[in-house]
Amino acid sequence: MDIRAEQPQDTTAIGEVVTAAFGQADEARLVEEIRADGDIAASLVAVLDGKVIGHVLLSKMQAPFSAMALAPLAVHPAYQGQRVGGTLMRTAIARARLLDAEAIFVQGDPAYYSRFGFKVEAASGFTSPYAGPHLMVLVMGGALPVSEGEISHAPAFSRL
Ligand SMILES: CC(C)(COP(=O)(O)OP(=O)(O)OC[C@H]1O[C@@H](n2cnc3c(N)ncnc32)[C@H](O)[C@@H]1OP(=O)(O)O)[C@@H](O)C(=O)NCCC(=O)NCCS
Repeated sequence: MDIRAEQPQDTTAIGEVVTAAFGQADEARLVEEIRADGDIAASLVAVLDGKVIGHVLLSKMQAPFSAMALAPLAVHPAYQGQRVGGTLMRTAIARARLLDAEAIFVQGDPAYYSRFGFKVEAASGFTSPYAGPHLMVLVMGGALPVSEGEISHAPAFSRL
């Protein structure tokens, strides 16, 4: 399996994988809108035998420091439980580091994301429509310059 950056010819396959993973089209639409708005920071696909089987998106966001939002993360149901998601996550985190992000925010299940170092407590001081038990942050360096303030996801998120 390879992890590589999205290419223009991948967009249909990405939409199909994201829709199959979530069992609905909302998250695939989110990916399309973030792309159309120019708010992608990094879009990575997992490819097996020439076929896209997983996808993860990092998008631009506003925060009191350099931050990105990770969402959605999707692995085609036929390939779940085979470490595709974990490999996509670790590659996305490394990419965010290369792009000088100080933090990555994610909304999701802490039972899954905590294994990559995301913490609910570290995100609890930030004001966001997504604040709560599912908002987590991964701090890339030693500590964030501030632990509170307002964060804003890319506009496409509020159109979901
Ligand atoms: C979540 C998802 C991306 C994981 O991808 P994957 O390739 O199956 O994950 P991996 O094989 O790398 O890791 C599997 C581990 O994740 C766990 N896991 C998968 N989904 C989980 C969830 N929603 N909550 C908690 N743990 C979860 C599995 O139990 C397994 O745990 P183990 O390693 O302790 O056995 C994939 O299941 C998926 O696309 N789900 C539907 C879409 C989704 O919910 N995306 C996340 C949005 S927040």
